[in-house]
Amino acid sequence: MIEFKDIEVKYGDFIAIKDMNLSINEGEFFTFLGPSGCGKTTTLRSLVGFIQPSAGQIIIDGKDVTNVPIEKRNIGMVFQSYALFPTMTVYENLAFGLKVKKLSPKEIDKKVKEVANVIEIKDEQLLRNVSELSGGQQQRVSLARAIVLEPKILCLDEPLSNLDAKLRVGLRSELKKLQKNLGITTLYVTHDQEEALTLSDRIAVFNNGFVEQVGEPYDIYNHSKSEFVCDFIGESNKLSSLIISEINVQTEKTFDVNKGAYVRLERVSLKEKAGCAKIHGTVKDYDYNGIMIKYDVDVLGCEIRVIHTNDGQAFYEPGRKLDLYIEPNDIMQF
Ligand SMILES: Nc1ncnc2c1ncn2[C@@H]1O[C@H](COP(=O)(O)OP(=O)(O)OP(=O)(O)O)[C@@H](O)[C@H]1O
Ligand SMILES: [Mg+2]
Repeated sequence: MIEFKDIEVKYGDFIAIKDMNLSINEGEFFTFLGPSGCGKTTTLRSLVGFIQPSAGQIIIDGKDVTNVPIEKRNIGMVFQSYALFPTMTVYENLAFGLKVKKLSPKEIDKKVKEVANVIEIKDEQLLRNVSELSGGQQQRVSLARAIVLEPKILCLDEPLSNLDAKLRVGLRSELKKLQKNLGITTLYVTHDQEEALTLSDRIAVFNNGFVEQVGEPYDIYNHSKSEFVCDFIGESNKLSSLIISEINVQTEKTFDVNKGAYVRLERVSLKEKAGCAKIHGTVKDYDYNGIMIKYDVDVLGCEIRVIHTNDGQAFYEPGRKLDLYIEPNDIMQF
């Protein structure tokens, strides 16, 4: 439905996006994930039309929109900073775009009330000034303001990052439900890997103006294509060449001992498992967070972190010797 074809974006001489090629399907929740400054916002803004690419084409539904003005693209946009009109009421904020479109007051009223209902903004809140609302409520209003115009595409640039952790998680699941119910093609920008994994149908991992990998959350996490993706998307252990040789001997695998090899924290087990390599270690330290215990274990001079679900048993104290089990198929090498 949306295609970025060989897109390049420049700011002066600086090339922010190089050779970007992406295809996004109808109805998809598609996320741009990556560290600060990698070009997520720039890519999104070029789709919406705020930025003119210096090369390439943007296609929506088979139509080249690269030179089509913003207002003709039918794309809704929500920003991190809410960007509401601060002196207007919630109602006026929601009605604004509809007035610009010259709908009758009756139609406007109907649409505003409908969207307020969908997004659970109460009637009495509609008459309040937006500056009187909390951050979470304001973000709900900016989402409603985008949705009320019934865009074909919804673009969300870090919409939850100004909110506190609990609210963020709450709004996140609401957003996902809403998106599925409306079936609206959604592009979502975040640098939060957990948010990306939870929300997305597919994720594009950005690095320095390039897309490193596009895939479903499961694949990006379990079959990262590069060291960068593996590192950015979650926590992993880098296994030393000594550990890799030991795993090769025990499992008859042929991992390259001269290359980095990674295994996710939660894939290292303290329980014996068939088909796994067994490596000896000594507990150095641990962190307890209620649900789980994270151990730092010294293995042949290399620090391996292990996540152990809290099973109500005593902790392994520093100095304690134990065995770690690693399934060779869980090892990622690039
Ligand atoms: N208006 C601008 N003028 C010049 N350079 C810019 C401009 N906007 C962005 N850049 C540069 O382009 C690159 C990509 O910026 P962009 O805002 O797209 O990153 P981002 O991935 O959205 O980062 P963040 O997570 O911090 O929002 C950065 O190096 C940034 O400094
Ligand atoms: Mg940005």
